[in-house]
Amino acid sequence: MTATQVKHEVKDLSYAPLGKQRIEWAGREMPVLRQIREQFAKDKPLEGIKMVACCHVTTETANLAIALKAGGADAVLIASNPLSTQDDTAASLVADYDIPVFAIKGEDNETYNRHINIALDHRPNIIIDDGSDVTAALIQHRKDQIKEIIGTTEETTTGINRLRAMFDDGVLTFPAMNVNDADTKHFFDNRYGTGQSTIDGIVRATNVLIAGKTFVVGGYGWCSKGVALRAAGMGANVVITEVDHVRALEAAMDGFRVMPMSEAAKIGDIIVTLTGNKHVVASHHFDVMKDGAIVCNAGHFDIELDLKSLREKASEVKEVRPFTEQYILPNGKSVIVLGEGRLINLASAEGHPSAVMDMSFANQAKGSEYLALNKGKLEPGIHSIPREVDKEIARLKLNAMGIKIDDLSQEQLKYMSSWTEGTD
Ligand code: ADE
Repeated sequence: MTATQVKHEVKDLSYAPLGKQRIEWAGREMPVLRQIREQFAKDKPLEGIKMVACCHVTTETANLAIALKAGGADAVLIASNPLSTQDDTAASLVADYDIPVFAIKGEDNETYNRHINIALDHRPNIIIDDGSDVTAALIQHRKDQIKEIIGTTEETTTGINRLRAMFDDGVLTFPAMNVNDADTKHFFDNRYGTGQSTIDGIVRATNVLIAGKTFVVGGYGWCSKGVALRAAGMGANVVITEVDHVRALEAAMDGFRVMPMSEAAKIGDIIVTLTGNKHVVASHHFDVMKDGAIVCNAGHFDIELDLKSLREKASEVKEVRPFTEQYILPNGKSVIVLGEGRLINLASAEGHPSAVMDMSFANQAKGSEYLALNKGKLEPGIHSIPREVDKEIARLKLNAMGIKIDDLSQEQLKYMSSWTEGTD
């Protein structure tokens, strides 16, 4: 292993060879991002721009970081969750790609926040955020640096909710690109990515059979829909809990049982939250659970399960497998909590597969380019990814998948823009 001049705080640089192999493996499934990287290498749209990417440090994020660097960015990468870093990937980015990384799997909250501060010391012009932690820290603690910001791009539903709250409070004084709401992001990443990776995380942590289980999904947004769909596909009896009437109706008509968590908690063999809200599984829900119920979270923050109250009431807590803790309750029953209530798909598995992150990170890369090209021209507040970018990402992805579709004929184009033609 050669010594590196690149600043870093990673677990162990000797993990780099495995990380490099895995980064390249992920890259095979990321053809859209690859084409953007090639375009970036020619056009250098991010030349001279200081960037911070606060993402889950995975092989997919590595491919994003490599594309940003090809575009000329001077980027630093930090973790957006203490448990999601892949240490071999972090090591390879430093050792093989000369990209500064500050992320260690299992880092404590103090280290996590210190890494955010190190990233802000880089004095970024563009921030790629996943959950809005860096943007929130900038606004709260580095007001003097706000004038240096061209803009931010945000990956998640949770982060977009936080940005909206910042805007309503009058503190979001720069543009933020809403990557999450691009069609080529949430239709695929949130639904099929979270769907597959959450089941993957539960299975890797526990090795339980999904078939025949009563599988409770908290929420029925895009992420929850994906998990419900995949759990049902594996033979589980899926139950949905919701607070929104329209979503609850949609879940019912998609064929799922819908009920309040107080009822669902009594029958769930596996309970997963993906709501973006806090204490969706509250203290009283744990009291009514079946013996051995498995509880986990795949929403952005680790606040969806009230683990503080569970810890307080438990007479014993022990690790029974990696990422799997058994809590013994005063009623004598046990509750199994996975991944400390953090994103189970990234804690015990590898997050979403590369093929969906390809589109999410294509949006991140193009969103960053859009900010750079429109420096000083965009209003403060939240901006959609331009429709043509979204469509182009879909076109490139279909092309890479070898799927052809029809074109509108001239006659159809004319028909779609006229109002005089009705029934034949
Ligand atoms: N979010 C969910 N899955 C991810 C992955 N594989 N890489 C980066 N961010 C993610």
